[in-house]
Amino acid sequence: MTTTLITGANKGLGFETARRLVAAGHTIYLGSRDAERGRRAAEQLGARMVLLDVTDDASVAAAAKAVEADGGLDVLINNAGVEVRGPDGGVAGAADVTADIMRQVFETNVFGMVRVSHAFLPLLQRSAAPVVVNVSSGLASLARASTPDAPGYAYPGVAYPASKAAVNMITVQYAKAFPNIRINAVEPGYTATDLNAHAGTQTAEEGAEIIVRMAQVTPDGPTGGYFDAAGPLPW
Ligand SMILES: NC(=O)c1ccc[n+]([C@@H]2O[C@H](COP(=O)([O-])OP(=O)(O)OC[C@H]3O[C@@H](n4cnc5c(N)ncnc54)[C@H](OP(=O)(O)O)[C@@H]3O)[C@@H](O)[C@H]2O)c1
Repeated sequence: MTTTLITGANKGLGFETARRLVAAGHTIYLGSRDAERGRRAAEQLGARMVLLDVTDDASVAAAAKAVEADGGLDVLINNAGVEVRGPDGGVAGAADVTADIMRQVFETNVFGMVRVSHAFLPLLQRSAAPVVVNVSSGLASLARASTPDAPGYAYPGVAYPASKAAVNMITVQYAKAFPNIRINAVEPGYTATDLNAHAGTQTAEEGAEIIVRMAQVTPDGPTGGYFDAAGPLPW
C-alpha cells in the first residue's frame, strides 16, 4: 500500500489529486491548514486529514510525527501554493512588486516547500520507492519567460514566477542529493481554481493529470525533471 501526503489538499488541484490517488489505491494524508475544511474534504474522499500549515515549523513537525507514528510515507506532493496580488487586485508587475509581496509568496511556495521536505525526507528515505512531486508552474520557465511568443512570456507578475523558478532549482538540487528518491517538478497548466478566481481554462481534473502521473512514477522513472502533461518543459 502506497502512503501519500498532499499539502494544501482541501481544495483545488490538491483535492483533485487526492481524489484520483485514493481511486488508485493510495492511502492519502490530506494536508490542510484549517481543521474543519480539511476534515470535510478528507471525509468526502475517504482520506486521512493532517493539520499542516506549511509556513509553521511546529505544525509541520507535528504532521511529520503523526504520519511517522501511523507507519511512514512513500510519496510527498508539495502542492500548497499562493499567489499574492497587488493593492489594486491585479498581478504585481515590476513597477509595483514589493519586498513584502515577494516575502509572502516565497513564505508559502518556497520556504514552505523546503520546511515540509526537510521534515518528511527522513520518512521518505525509509520507503522502498520514495517519490516527491513539487507543484511548480509553466511561469517558472526562464526559457519561456525570455522568449517572445512563448507561453507565459506576456505574464507581467514577478513574485509568483520567481517563487516557482526557485521551486524548479530546489527540485534539481534535491534530486541530485537524493538519487534513491524520484523528485520532479510539474506544471499543471492554467486551471480554474481559487488561485486565479476560476479564470483558468482547464478543469481541476485536467490540471491534476501530471501531478497524479508523477506521483505514481516507478523507481526506474525520471528524476530532477520538469514536466507538463505533454512531456518535458524547457527550464
Ligand atoms: N491553478 C493554476 O492555474 C495553477 C497553475 C500552475 C501551478 N499551480 C499550482 O498548483 C498548486 C495548487 O494550487 P490551486 O490552483 O489548486 O489553488 P487553490 O485552489 O487556491 O489551492 C491552494 C491550496 O494551498 C493551500 N495553502 C495555501 N497556503 C497554505 C499554507 N500556508 N499551508 C498549507 N496549505 C496552504 C490552500 O489552503 P486554504 O484553502 O487554507 O487557503 C489550498 O488548499 C499551487 O502550488 C499553485 O501554485 C496552479
